[in-house]
Amino acid sequence: MYNTEILSPSPEALEKASGLLKSGQLVAFPTETVYGLGANALNRDAVLSIFAAKDRPADNPLIVHIWSVDQLEGICEVPEKAWPLMERFWPGPLTILMPRKETIPMEVTAGLDTVAIRMPSHPAAKALLKACGLPIAAPSANRSGKPSPTTAGYVYQDMQGRIPLILDGGPCQVGLESTVLDLTGTPTILRPGGITPEDLAAILGPVQVAGSVLRPLMKGEVARSPGMRYRHYAPKGQVTLVNGDEAQVVAALRKLYLQSEADGLKACVMCFSEHMEALRDCCPHDIGSKENPASTAHLLFDTLRKLDDEDMDAIYSEVVPAEGIGLAIMNRLGRAASFRTIEADSL
Ligand code: TXA
Ligand code: MG
Repeated sequence: MYNTEILSPSPEALEKASGLLKSGQLVAFPTETVYGLGANALNRDAVLSIFAAKDRPADNPLIVHIWSVDQLEGICEVPEKAWPLMERFWPGPLTILMPRKETIPMEVTAGLDTVAIRMPSHPAAKALLKACGLPIAAPSANRSGKPSPTTAGYVYQDMQGRIPLILDGGPCQVGLESTVLDLTGTPTILRPGGITPEDLAAILGPVQVAGSVLRPLMKGEVARSPGMRYRHYAPKGQVTLVNGDEAQVVAALRKLYLQSEADGLKACVMCFSEHMEALRDCCPHDIGSKENPASTAHLLFDTLRKLDDEDMDAIYSEVVPAEGIGLAIMNRLGRAASFRTIEADSL
């Protein structure tokens, strides 16, 4: 058991964090997407302790974080197509799969021959990576199955006693994890995130999106990104998505909420800021402005965590169009709901 410390990323705290990483220990740190749980990617035992702290299945590979492209040579081959992407989107929320070199232990890649690499833009992440000089393997700093943490407080909820140190860089700006891109064959987005398919297509030309992004895996289908296999981002209560025309959706949310309450369930709605007033008697939770999908991305995991803290049984949510950052939002919301959707006009 550790007495988990939370420190702002001052030079002294960064020094301490860097010392812990160098000695094979775990440190949680902020990135622009979500908080990461870092360990020296070159140290097998350190990497194994990430899986233990998160209760993460060993077959789900980790992303390796770097601060300089000079670090790539020691850890992977770089596909030709990756250079213009790194030039344009790094540092930032894009993770690229690259052929692994032997220096990266199999535990990091869960036996796969590619390693996922990302260069985060958060100043504290950059400073930490630079100070320790190591490639850092870091999954999101949540316990497996919980929404990724977007504040140091949420990391503490999940990791208290399990790790020595959390660097607190405030709330994460993007709020959803990075885009995971596979460049072997036609470029394919395995997990949508902060960098949109439209952003990538502007540099790469045609980009595919893995089939399982907006639907459950089919029986016998192999997930190209192992993380897609797991029931992620799921609050304890049943989430149902409500689709359709704006006015009908608002009316349907009220109807579904009242029905659940009448059935003796603890219910609530997740709605756009614009509908908070109209739904004020339906225990509304704000998911940002309909006009600004980035605000929904920023708030989504925070809202999903609150629903658990409030022990909600039945949660009814508005949806966003699955384009731009909306694709990443609908991937996370869809999975939180196990893709359970109701058409508003069917009620
Ligand atoms: O924004 C992010 O990416 C955050 C921050 C901390 O950087 N990290 C993150 O890591 O979300 P994690 O472990 O929660 O998600 C990594 C995802 C998983 O779905 C995993 O299966 C996939 O990336 N992945 C990692 N390596 C892979 C590989 N070699 N091939 C296919 N998928 C891979
Ligand atoms: Mg994760």
